Amino acid sequence: MRKTIIAGNWKMNKTIAEAVSLVEGLKRELADCVDVEVVVCPPFTALKTVSDMLADTQIKLGCQNMSSEDDGAYTGEISHTMLKELFVRYVILGHSERRDYYKETDFWVNRKVKKALEKNLRPIVCVGEKLKDREAGNTEKVVEAQVRGSLADIPAEQFEEVVVAYEPVWAIGTGKTATSEQAQEVHAFIRGIIRDMVGDQAAAGLRIQYGGSMKPANAKELLSQPDIDGGLIGGASLDANSFISIVKAGL
Ligand code: PGA
Repeated sequence: MRKTIIAGNWKMNKTIAEAVSLVEGLKRELADCVDVEVVVCPPFTALKTVSDMLADTQIKLGCQNMSSEDDGAYTGEISHTMLKELFVRYVILGHSERRDYYKETDFWVNRKVKKALEKNLRPIVCVGEKLKDREAGNTEKVVEAQVRGSLADIPAEQFEEVVVAYEPVWAIGTGKTATSEQAQEVHAFIRGIIRDMVGDQAAAGLRIQYGGSMKPANAKELLSQPDIDGGLIGGASLDANSFISIVKAGL
């Protein structure tokens, strides 16, 4: 009942010309894909071009951040109105790189999540522990605080629009993947927290993606776990063939 969702997070990669060539490659295989929900999240500068290219396909458009405010004097920020004008449907929020390098806290992630939901954009809310947390036995404590903080005060019925991405920070861009057992354990734990926050039905329907060095070689095994409902793919989403293989592993 939870449709697998595979999203490509291109991060700060791809010029417009490079984005065009990647999307051409993806469209050849995935334009009509409906059994897995496919999302690409280019950098802001390529959104318009990619949006135009995806107009006649089933591939959905996402982006990598959004302002918590509506409009006004917020230099460097991008608003929900600007994103919706480009037919953006998903917004990655609270990625560990934003938490780490730009000091985004759960408070701000939560404000952005609420704004996205209010404006009918679907947030992909990222959580995950650092290596030092895992080594100190604090994985659950850290992940629980992020889940409760980032998703505070969201009514149960709005969880249908939410995707959570569990991304252990030590596995992002490092080539080190969590084992499928390690990932499943945390995914089940997250679903349990959501159950406690908003009840069984919302928890059972919530899609939880795994992210962190997911690639063609490990995607099938990860995606076959009962609480892993998709992937948030960084490095392997920059190459059409590897992203397509990951999507196919989810079929
Ligand atoms: P990675 O990145 O696949 O390159 O590890 C995942 C992410 O940060 O979303």
